[in-house]
Amino acid sequence: MRPLFFFTLILILSVVTLARGKNIPFPKDFVFGTATAAYQIEGAAREGGRGPSIWDYFSHIPGKTFKDATGDIACDHYHRLEEDVKLMVSMGLKYYRMSISWSRLLPDGTIDNINQQGIDHYNKEIDILLKNGITPFVTLYHWDLPLNLHIKYGGWLNKEASMKHFGDYADLCFKSFGDRVKNWITFNEAWCASIHGYLNGSQAPGRCSKCKPEQGDSDREPYQAAHSMILSHAVAVDIYLNKYKKTQKGSIGMTMNSGWGEPLTNKPEDQDAAQRLMEFQLGWFADPIFRGDYPLSMRRQAGNLLPQFTQAEKQLLIKSKSDFFGLNHYSTLYVSARTNVSSGYYAHMNATTTPYRDGKPIGERADSTWLWVVPWGIRKIVNWVYDRYQIKIYITENGCDVPNEDKLPFDQIINDTFRVNYLQGYLNAVSEAIHQDKVPVVGYFVWSFMDNFEWADGYAKRFGIHHVDYVKNNTRTPKKSAKWYSELIKQ
Ligand SMILES: *[C@@H]1O[C@H](CO)[C@@H](O)[C@H](O)[C@H]1NC(C)=O
Ligand SMILES: *[C@@H]1O[C@H](CO)[C@@H](O)[C@H](O)[C@H]1NC(C)=O
Ligand SMILES: *[C@@H]1O[C@H](CO)[C@@H](O)[C@H](O)[C@H]1NC(C)=O
Ligand SMILES: *[C@@H]1O[C@H](CO)[C@@H](O)[C@H](O)[C@H]1NC(C)=O
Ligand SMILES: *[C@@H]1O[C@H](CO)[C@@H](O)[C@H](O)[C@H]1NC(C)=O
Repeated sequence: MRPLFFFTLILILSVVTLARGKNIPFPKDFVFGTATAAYQIEGAAREGGRGPSIWDYFSHIPGKTFKDATGDIACDHYHRLEEDVKLMVSMGLKYYRMSISWSRLLPDGTIDNINQQGIDHYNKEIDILLKNGITPFVTLYHWDLPLNLHIKYGGWLNKEASMKHFGDYADLCFKSFGDRVKNWITFNEAWCASIHGYLNGSQAPGRCSKCKPEQGDSDREPYQAAHSMILSHAVAVDIYLNKYKKTQKGSIGMTMNSGWGEPLTNKPEDQDAAQRLMEFQLGWFADPIFRGDYPLSMRRQAGNLLPQFTQAEKQLLIKSKSDFFGLNHYSTLYVSARTNVSSGYYAHMNATTTPYRDGKPIGERADSTWLWVVPWGIRKIVNWVYDRYQIKIYITENGCDVPNEDKLPFDQIINDTFRVNYLQGYLNAVSEAIHQDKVPVVGYFVWSFMDNFEWADGYAKRFGIHHVDYVKNNTRTPKKSAKWYSELIKQ
């Protein structure tokens, strides 16, 4: 009886403490932040000398985004820096992940035409953050390629042009802001930019074999675009290490995205399929960056659709050492062998995902169709990353939308218990990975600081811990999750 009694007592106590959102243990210097991206929040798309990006172009093609939404105004963050930083201060935020709009600094994407107003704008933003005790983590590429580079050179399909122009842009950012910005992320989710941009065409620039107006090649182009992004990352890191790191003393790395793939059964082919899925999703980018070449599974399956790195490129990959692994993680699915797709990336991956095992869902579903709440998945994925790459990890995005959030009455939207439970569950699992598995996760950023333009889903999906009223003058209101996270940070 006694062990059972104690077990029950401990269970009750832990449920009580969890419910209060307190006592999730984290190392003292753990980085707690929130994240956003330029095109999703800034607006002011045609102001301050900014040039168009592929997202301006794509979102203005009818039918490409939900209700034809665009980022023209978004959260109007461009005009509300002071107001938004005040909100950050009021919740005790000390770290903020933001991105720079490339075409705000370089309207045609090239270094030949620098827009001083753009530089002034980000100087102002960085200074306001620092003045208020908030450390910026800055992403250089969060999907908004200057349109001119796409039209004139083929964008990410042109390896040489990509490496040159991304290198120039990165250099300009280090030179202009690196005295104050000490945490650089080269690319955000190059997987999405490659797959959604060039295989499905569901995101900018909207290319695929059957897409209009951008007819591409769904089998070949995702690999080509990814290849250019990987090498452009390496160029930027190399520039940082050679020209800036010694004096500026900052860190640099890439942010990659992946769900966790849990084998559907114990069968070896399902176990293999799950491992292959992780290699195709994370290894596609992380293997070249941390190990100098693509995973063997990809080389074997994709054959010559997957570009080769030249000897010189391999050298570049090896010498451009990243300081950390940036991981965006939201969800977990079961994986089994085989796929119905006949060619291209998904055929090569040869794995099928499903949220169901024996008819039971893997977790609760959030609002987005792809997002299932599976806290244990984040513990498994950081273990996978650390086992394979032996490098410290920042969770650079994690969060959820609430079922039907956009359709709920305002008072229910801001009482987002669902989101609080999600964050609590995932943070608990991260804490376990740190303390029990000894995985060096050093930071965590909630996606997102506020509701924003959710790409092809427009404004219908809300991921913010602050509500944004797009109808009533973009008014911001903290949700319960903002208060909960604020308490966690302060403690
Ligand atoms: C993209 O296309 C692949 C292959 O048809 C499919 O499996 C996948 O679900 C699609 N993803 C999205 C987000 O539409
Ligand atoms: C996909 O996986 C199944 C099951 O493991 C295997 O029988 C099949 O040959 C594989 N197909 C390809 C193209 O690799
Ligand atoms: C493949 O497609 C068939 C017919 O549409 C379907 O019955 C089957 O479940 C699919 N298999 C997988 C692994 O998706
Ligand atoms: C918030 O929602 C929870 C259930 O999710 C409910 O128990 C609570 O009463 C609500 N609080 C307010 C202030 O509406
Ligand atoms: C809209 O919000 C901005 C920024 O907070 C403010 O300056 C302006 O006065 C507001 N306009 C109205 C009509 O409320």
